[in-house]
Amino acid sequence: MQIQVSGVGKTYPDGTRALEAVDFSITSGDGVVLLGANGCGKSTLLKCLLGLERVTNGRIEIAGVDIGRARRREVLRLRRSIGSVFQQFNLVGNLTVFQNVLFGRLGSDGFFASLAPTARPVLRDRAVACLERVGLADLARRRTDTLSGGQQQRVAFARMLMQDAKLVLADEPVASLDPKAVREVMDLLFEIVRERQMTVVCVLHQLDLAVEYAGRIVGLKHGRVAFDATPDALDRATLDSLYDRAPDASPAPSEDPHVSIAETRATAAV
Ligand SMILES: Nc1ncnc2c1ncn2[C@@H]1O[C@H](COP(=O)(O)OP(=O)(O)OP(=O)(O)O)[C@@H](O)[C@H]1O
Ligand SMILES: [Mg+2]
Repeated sequence: MQIQVSGVGKTYPDGTRALEAVDFSITSGDGVVLLGANGCGKSTLLKCLLGLERVTNGRIEIAGVDIGRARRREVLRLRRSIGSVFQQFNLVGNLTVFQNVLFGRLGSDGFFASLAPTARPVLRDRAVACLERVGLADLARRRTDTLSGGQQQRVAFARMLMQDAKLVLADEPVASLDPKAVREVMDLLFEIVRERQMTVVCVLHQLDLAVEYAGRIVGLKHGRVAFDATPDALDRATLDSLYDRAPDASPAPSEDPHVSIAETRATAAV
């Protein structure tokens, strides 16, 4: 799914300028990781892409639809094909896993058609298949808030599959997971994205994961794009600048200004 972000600014009602002028475009099938310091505007940008916040300057076009100008109906139709994954899982805790997956069809099929026990058999079969894909079929009847963080994130992926999302916006999807779950969840997310040829924009704070999973990294700084390239172009100087760190006084062991990614990982963890 194609995204065009042109001169996007966002000032919140209290006057906070979260985005100054953001420009980038994403073509279908891209795996983009969004990096940047706390408060640089990453979540705000995702919210604007999701249509949860209105931009105050510039425009966002998704699949050719200008989401600031399009009719509400058109924006809602578009939003149905955008899956979202958040650090806090954004599932309905007191409903079952199965019901949360059925919610993926809420926008397309309406409340009664989507919710168990009245959901159409074809939807129920599909929800089971989605849960099988993420390895959670056995937990379908469990209350969602009794699941571990990694399992809850899998439920969010199953819901995204149920929704047949074409674009996935993920905001720190593994921030609260243990190291083993981090890897499992990231592997699963990017496997699904590849299988379904989804476009993904994923905010991460872990550089090693960004380098490993991204096809492209966009770095935001003070509400603007400060870096936009493939992971191998991400060197230490760029990271220092992105995170407003003073350059390391001690020379890199290799004395090479183009610090390798492995070294960057070891020395520049955020
Ligand atoms: N609803 C809001 N009202 C006012 N200011 C806000 C609101 N939401 C975010 N901000 C401000 O906008 C700026 C960008 O916030 P945002 O949450 O987008 O940053 P972020 O890059 O996601 O940070 P983090 O890495 O900590 O999640 C911050 O200064 C924040 O305080
Ligand atoms: Mg954020």
